[in-house]
Amino acid sequence: MALNWEQARHRLIVALDLSERAAILQLAASLASRVGAVKLGLEAFTGHGPALVSSVQELGLPVFLDLKLHDIPNTVERAAAACARLGVKMFTVHAAGGPAMLAAAVAGAAAGTPAGASPPAVLAVTVLTSLDERVLGRLGIAGSVAERVGAWAEMARECGCGGVVCSAQEAAQLRARLGSEMLLVTPGIRPAGAAVGDQSRVATPLAAVRAGADYLVVGRPITAAADPVAAAEALVAEIQASAR
Ligand code: C5P
Repeated sequence: MALNWEQARHRLIVALDLSERAAILQLAASLASRVGAVKLGLEAFTGHGPALVSSVQELGLPVFLDLKLHDIPNTVERAAAACARLGVKMFTVHAAGGPAMLAAAVAGAAAGTPAGASPPAVLAVTVLTSLDERVLGRLGIAGSVAERVGAWAEMARECGCGGVVCSAQEAAQLRARLGSEMLLVTPGIRPAGAAVGDQSRVATPLAAVRAGADYLVVGRPITAAADPVAAAEALVAEIQASAR
């Protein structure tokens, strides 16, 4: 499906994994018309709290709050409601928390959503890309990473989650297994020829889009670029070209 520039840029989420509030907001402001949303993670939220979420939203940018909630269902339900009250576009929970916890997150997100607004998408994180089959075995979890990702993604769908976070390598398999309703959000995106950094399962924007990813999460290729605006624009152009 061909995308115009606006449609393509809405699929780009910039991960602002920076510690300084001023630096986060400065970068968010300069990228406001070049990306679709900002991902704020544990470092930024722990350091600067809900006020930072509001400040980013005031720039006209939706927020993806990546806190990877994982606790007993009641606690996650209440935290999910708090995420929804902040008006975020999407937030994450760990699929490993189990079906009751996932369903509680979905219920909490709906309960906390202000009247007339859409609830945030609850995204399940399946197997962290920092884990491999050997570590899963040490945790007492049998089978391959791919099997676990597929099974947990299906569980997330059954519990009402709106999507999953996955590597682009897993996206095609998950798209086939989950159908078109679930959002696939893929980090580990590197423009062709870019530094891989500490990511292991990386993909180009072209590969991610072709594999069925709805949103591409990109951090350092934008934030550490000499010209972050140009880097974001190049990524949007790459997403646009890939969707043809
Ligand atoms: O800088 P980089 O593009 O590698 O940033 C990717 C972002 O996506 C980071 O915020 C990272 O925490 C997050 N992420 C990831 N892999 C996952 C889940 C989240 O890289 N499996």
